[in-house]
Amino acid sequence: MTSTVELSNGTADEMSAYRTESLLEHGTEAMGRGDYSTAATMFAIAGGSVGHGYDRQRVLYNRAIRNLIPRWHYAMLNDDARNAAYRDAIRHMVRPGDLVLDIGTGAGLLSLLAIEAGAEAVVTCEMEPRLADVARQIMINNKVQSKVTVVSTVSTDLRVGVDLPRRADVLVTEIFDCALFGEGAVPAIRHARRDLLRPDARIIPGRARVLGQLIESEELLAHNSVSEVLGFDLSPFQRFRSIEYFSTYLSRYRHRPLSDPFVMFDVDFRTGELARERRVSVPVTATGDCHAVAMWFDLDLASGVTLSNSPDQVGTHWRQAVQTLERPVTCQASGSVDLLVAHDEERVLVRGVEDGRPRDGQHAGERPGRG
Ligand SMILES: C[S@@+](CC[C@H](N)C(=O)[O-])C[C@H]1O[C@@H](n2cnc3c(N)ncnc32)[C@H](O)[C@@H]1O
Repeated sequence: MTSTVELSNGTADEMSAYRTESLLEHGTEAMGRGDYSTAATMFAIAGGSVGHGYDRQRVLYNRAIRNLIPRWHYAMLNDDARNAAYRDAIRHMVRPGDLVLDIGTGAGLLSLLAIEAGAEAVVTCEMEPRLADVARQIMINNKVQSKVTVVSTVSTDLRVGVDLPRRADVLVTEIFDCALFGEGAVPAIRHARRDLLRPDARIIPGRARVLGQLIESEELLAHNSVSEVLGFDLSPFQRFRSIEYFSTYLSRYRHRPLSDPFVMFDVDFRTGELARERRVSVPVTATGDCHAVAMWFDLDLASGVTLSNSPDQVGTHWRQAVQTLERPVTCQASGSVDLLVAHDEERVLVRGVEDGRPRDGQHAGERPGRG
């Protein structure tokens, strides 16, 4: 009798261990394919089947979730300057009775602020279903679930008459990376203007600019360049340098500005007006070698309410965008440097212009984002 019980317990444990291993294996395969959602589901079920803190499952689950919900969400949600500017702007722009559309729910902070400002109803959409679920819980915790509808979808799939009762009076959104375009704001707002908003809708932000500044900094250059190390020639490794920007705090590096900030792009979200490519002649303010162009944005959230991730904004969670140049550009004080600035509605790219011909590369696949 005793041996029968031992045998069945042993078999049940073995079955459970086999199931866990198999879920972890399939989850790992899904991660390899870049299907983080399936991976997270498998790792979560695998964890549940064991029922105690088994690190391998938790670490794998965390890795899958990090790809779906980047950790910068926390720094963003705790960015007081960002939150205060959006609260001010929403108070200025939202009127009682408004239907507000909030693209990119996240934790739902902007929807909560819209209700606080007197909106009658908010429809908000979030393309990551796990975030949408948590946002619904947050609406319940804050007792606004009857006024805020969280739709688990990408904004371009929203339909008036299905997800929204009518075209919205106000659009509020914060889907901007450190150089503005990287989270898809331009196409998302264009679609909303065309299909989801009233013609006279108020848009937060109404306008934005991408600014640049010429920078001399060997320290910054060292983050994306290598030549001689300990007397050895490593220069062939240069071929893997990133040609796109990365996000960092400019203040962490010894650097010298060689120009004042200059406008690279000026986007009007109310009309969609935005140049795709511009040639900019930048007045040089100090002699030196320009190794990089630092970039950031100014958002016009409402009349008198702006938000920026410029180097002066100490602690902005966005940091700044920095693109190193393929070759340093010699700058003479009181002269000027010609740059070709372009974007694909997703990423900004800067190129030095010499003798009418652009230098530097094309677009690459790295996703610098924020934080
Ligand atoms: C930067 S977070 C901002 C969250 C929140 N609005 C806030 O300000 O605290 C942007 C969120 O929008 C989501 N998102 C980005 N573009 C979207 C789109 N076009 N449709 C739906 N969700 C989107 C992302 O998954 C992310 O969770």
